[in-house]
Amino acid sequence: ASTYPFTGPHQAGIVTPAQDRLYLAAFDLTTDSREELVDLLRRWTTMAARLTQGLSAGPFGPASGPYDAPPDDTGEAADLPPAGLTITFGFGRSLFVGTPSPDGTPGTDRFGLADRLPGGLVELPHFPQDALDPARSDGDLVVQACADDPQVAVHAVRNLSRAAFGTATIRWTQLGYGRTSSTSTAQKTPRNLFGFKDGTANVKAEESAALDEHIWVPASDAAADTTDSAWLTGGSYLVARRIRMTIETWDRTSLREQEAVVGRTKGEGAPLSGGTEHTEPDLTATGGDGAPLVAVDSHVRLAHPTTNDGVRMLRRGYNFTDGNDSLGRLDAGLFFLAFVRDPRTHYVPMQTTLSRDDALMEYLQHTGSGLFAVPAGVPDGSLVLGDDGT
Ligand code: HEM
Repeated sequence: ASTYPFTGPHQAGIVTPAQDRLYLAAFDLTTDSREELVDLLRRWTTMAARLTQGLSAGPFGPASGPYDAPPDDTGEAADLPPAGLTITFGFGRSLFVGTPSPDGTPGTDRFGLADRLPGGLVELPHFPQDALDPARSDGDLVVQACADDPQVAVHAVRNLSRAAFGTATIRWTQLGYGRTSSTSTAQKTPRNLFGFKDGTANVKAEESAALDEHIWVPASDAAADTTDSAWLTGGSYLVARRIRMTIETWDRTSLREQEAVVGRTKGEGAPLSGGTEHTEPDLTATGGDGAPLVAVDSHVRLAHPTTNDGVRMLRRGYNFTDGNDSLGRLDAGLFFLAFVRDPRTHYVPMQTTLSRDDALMEYLQHTGSGLFAVPAGVPDGSLVLGDDGT
């Protein structure tokens, strides 16, 4: 499809078939005024509803309107099709409780929102081997723009950022290409920069029971919270991790080692226990030497639901290449994005295991991180995101 509806029970850009390109921006608010925050969300919602339907950011468009004012759309997407644009908004922990200082002093609740902090919007622990850059982490708000044309995705973020002038500024951004997941059974599994198929065992849009169990926040989770987090019912949490891959080291590694580390074959993407791409891995199968065919420290074994209390996630990441370092090595990797029902059960335990035991970690470095609460969609007729009427 070239356009996806903006309104609906859930925000677009989650189960929407993963587009080819990403531009994601995290923003910090520069105001302490709750009215200005609400006004920004109102303007963003209206603008996103227009942009995703292939309209200009404002009613006049890039080349009309008052001659002595800047046009209400920047113009670079004027002749381009909507390219399947989706815009997904999320709220960081700092929006609710501010940012604690390094000495442990709690942050300030600038907007009177502390009693709305959803239970899952935790401060992520420091995982083994984390090398996070604060300038590439966190943020009060996040905007995920996905499209099949990078210019369409960048145009969307640029215009939303322009609309935020005086209220919020960009803290960090990430450009992604080459989706590293499939979110629909109709999509072919793409490959990540290690050359392996990625997204085979993802939660897919067609699995409605799994979406309810693992991706959407149910009302019962809000009921269990000590804060008033009912507003997140029908929403989700977005985990973002900028994971640099040491491509040059990987490229000098034998095929045998590469497959053992992942736990799947490089060509077909089949589990090393046998079968084809979509055969369920048999974690109990052993070879002639008695060793498990899917190695104990392989990524697939450690990320598999049976190793993680049955939890699954909806992965929606992208490849990135941000130039090179002073030694001529590519600053490239996987911008990991995943939607989960509750990071406390569906992300933190798995990342703890992976960071500690995953053989893939020898070739990875986590350099950025964000966690955001993603409200449910805006229903038809109403146009304010994250608004529960209070
Ligand atoms: C599966 C690569 C990071 C969670 C896979 C697969 C590959 C892969 C090749 C097998 C194909 C598939 O089922 O999609 C990578 C690379 C990473 C990375 C290159 C980093 C650069 C992560 C992280 C997490 C994660 C950080 C979660 C914390 C999963 C899960 C599966 C998976 C849940 C499916 C496992 C299953 O059900 O069998 N990954 N991954 N991955 N990965 Fe990753």
